[in-house]
Amino acid sequence: MGADLSARAVGVSELMDDPAADARMLERTYRRFGAVNAVVSRPGALYRADVRPRARRRRDTGSGRLRILDVGAGGGDLCRALAVRLRRDGFPAEITALDVDPRAVSWAQAHDRGAGIGYRCAPVAELVRDGEVFDVVLSNHVLHHLDEDGLAGMLEDTRRLAAPHGLVAHHDISRSRGGYVAFAAGTWLLAGTVLAGSFIREDGLTSIRRSYTPDELAAVAPAGWEVRRGFPSRLELRWEQDDAVA
Ligand SMILES: C[S@@+](CC[C@H](N)C(=O)[O-])C[C@H]1O[C@@H](n2cnc3c(N)ncnc32)[C@H](O)[C@@H]1O
Repeated sequence: MGADLSARAVGVSELMDDPAADARMLERTYRRFGAVNAVVSRPGALYRADVRPRARRRRDTGSGRLRILDVGAGGGDLCRALAVRLRRDGFPAEITALDVDPRAVSWAQAHDRGAGIGYRCAPVAELVRDGEVFDVVLSNHVLHHLDEDGLAGMLEDTRRLAAPHGLVAHHDISRSRGGYVAFAAGTWLLAGTVLAGSFIREDGLTSIRRSYTPDELAAVAPAGWEVRRGFPSRLELRWEQDDAVA
């Protein structure tokens, strides 16, 4: 619990990013992302605040299906959680789960569970080149993986992928002592059972060490991006057009 959190630990890598990572542990990690995200990423709140209003606008204006892009989708659970809610509420939507890691894309595709998500293994720049646009471009727990140039490129590319009235929302952990201690304690209790054989605990702690504080992120974000603080120990880097649906 005595980790140095005074600055981003950019020199420390997550085990799941190792191309030689144990395949079974990686698969268990993707499988467990859903449970972790249900607690810390709160897909229901994301749906109500940012997705449903845009889906409603599409429906009310007769302008077709809502298009969502999840960048760095990992195991795809956030996409599945949004797909279930959109279907429940009768909103037609097209969701793309994008990741640069083919292992994540393969796993997510094999565990679509009828959600009907589109999977793509590519960098965001490829979608920009293809002229794709989305109503909602989001990421979750991706920013802290990126170096300075990677972050700048990600923000520029995702902003260019936003349709008129569109939103870009990069969600991540906020580096804090409280968050680190809470995650360490919570996962310690589950380390021998639910989280056994996965990278969740170790990579989660590394992620917190690599993450930005809200002030650090605001300092490197280009003009037009807004940093929001959330609970528990969350942050969001957000860009939306002036006439975007709130
Ligand atoms: C910690 S996982 C998060 C997965 C998922 N978003 C979630 O919240 O469970 C980070 C994911 O981002 C992917 N990733 C990292 N850099 C990326 C980039 N530049 N473009 C797309 N995906 C990226 C990794 O391959 C990994 O699957």
